[in-house]
Amino acid sequence: MSLDVDGFRAQFPSLASGIAHFDGPGGTQTPLAVAEAIARTLTAPLSNRGSSVRSERNADDAVTAFREAVADLLAADPRGVVYGRSATQLTYDLSRTLADSWAEGDEIVVSELDHDANVRPWVQAAEARGATVRWLRLDPATAELDLTRLDEIVNERTRLVAVTAASNLLGTIPPVARIAARAHAVGALVHVDGVHYAAHASVDVTALGADFFVCSPYKFFGPHCAVLVADPALLETLHPDKLVPSSDRVPERFELGTLPYETLAGVTAAVEVIADLAPATGEPGITRRERLVAAHELIDRHETALRERIETRLAELGLQVHSRAARRTPTLYVTLGDRVAAAASSFLAERDILAPSGSFYAWETFRALRLPVEAGMRIGVAAYTSDDDVDRLLEGLAEFLTR
Ligand SMILES: Cc1ncc(COP(=O)(O)O)c(C=O)c1O
Repeated sequence: MSLDVDGFRAQFPSLASGIAHFDGPGGTQTPLAVAEAIARTLTAPLSNRGSSVRSERNADDAVTAFREAVADLLAADPRGVVYGRSATQLTYDLSRTLADSWAEGDEIVVSELDHDANVRPWVQAAEARGATVRWLRLDPATAELDLTRLDEIVNERTRLVAVTAASNLLGTIPPVARIAARAHAVGALVHVDGVHYAAHASVDVTALGADFFVCSPYKFFGPHCAVLVADPALLETLHPDKLVPSSDRVPERFELGTLPYETLAGVTAAVEVIADLAPATGEPGITRRERLVAAHELIDRHETALRERIETRLAELGLQVHSRAARRTPTLYVTLGDRVAAAASSFLAERDILAPSGSFYAWETFRALRLPVEAGMRIGVAAYTSDDDVDRLLEGLAEFLTR
């Protein structure tokens, strides 16, 4: 069984533009079903949440359906699903709440593999409380986190470990469960950035050992927003700043202001779109969670095949692929010897092939790799990437190199 790529692409009106999108790690295109769910929610009767009139119930139903969909996607408890505007916002908010109980002598651990959204909020919160920041270093030779000193870096003083489930620059998938096991052995909490990972793999937050897990639906065909999931019992122990009259229940306590019901409906629709890729969709008794897991197996096979094709050709062209971890997503970071990557990206862009060059906010990763922040180009494969897209990319790159 393989992914029906043509059928999947037909769900995305924007792909008719002819642009070959290799910018999935920055954000994916949107299927019609997601846009329609947003429009349907906005044009149906809609009020603030409540139970008296249909417009109130519609708002309430959108919230309930969103929490259930995200819970199925991440194998989480719907009562612990928190909506946020972005992963950056959710992480900043949580960092301030958790840091309330930190003091001098406490330590927090961040990694060089992370997007700055899972570094700076923790570093700044630690600085504000006088806590010490310790680093999990990246080994540039392997593109993996160096865990040889894990037991020393994560120790009895550690309060929190923040680590990515996958690097949005290199694609590296670090052994989060192993890191989390060490953190839990010393009583520390684990915050996992799943923004890049959740677009490519089926997530089980418990198996990962994530006390907190954030991801952003706009990276997997949904609208521009983010979610944080945690055990509701853990959320009950935390008290973020909030307005006096607003709900003190979990997870509402963590959600500031009126929820964007239409966006929540878009997230639910995006989860359905992924689940519908499962071969067994429609079979009696199969759960949405089971369909999501099956869908991700197909997506992974498709994306990995394209990634391997690209890698083989990049090596033939003599380009340096910095993505080389044993376990990784289909995201490749490539430098072009003495050729300027931004020029290659522009050359491709003129041909409607989008493989951008930039920092991608992977600030510490560039430092660890000892590369200037815009040294290379990022090629991200998504579930809708076609063989034709890959042909165009590779031909375009070969042509650029002959000039
Ligand atoms: C790995 C990773 N973490 C965090 C973020 C930030 O996500 P958001 O835009 O939802 O704040 C991104 C965005 O590119 C990302 O790739």
